Amino acid sequence: MSETFFKWDQSRLTTHVDAMDNEHKKLIEIMNKLYERNENKATKTELASIVRELAGWTVTHFDHEEKFFDTLPYSQAAVHKKIHRDLIERLKGHQAEFEKTGTLTPAFFQFLKTWLTAHIMGIDTKYGEIAAKKSA
Ligand SMILES: [Fe+2]
Ligand SMILES: [Fe+2]
Repeated sequence: MSETFFKWDQSRLTTHVDAMDNEHKKLIEIMNKLYERNENKATKTELASIVRELAGWTVTHFDHEEKFFDTLPYSQAAVHKKIHRDLIERLKGHQAEFEKTGTLTPAFFQFLKTWLTAHIMGIDTKYGEIAAKKSA
């Protein structure tokens, strides 16, 4: 058994918006599956389908998140959307690299991990604070 790639940590990662937390958990679940299947030497075809699932779900999540924070008085909305576009570009870059080489690099997994911690903790929690104030 390989160790879990990324564990949900409620105190550090919660946005206090249940729908968004659930989507973040789903992203983590797909990342963990990718990591585990890669550790266990899954075929390129199988890995490619998980990478596609991850990329597709990322686009869907960002879309849901943007629709959600557009309902809030959130001054960083435009910047946040730009960050999402950049993350998708970088994810697609890693995906293209994988399609070419058939290898998921440590840099790819590092990117996923950094993206999760830095983006969810540093950026997504910001709209969470505003949503919390709004409903208070
Ligand atoms: Fe975000
Ligand atoms: Fe998010």
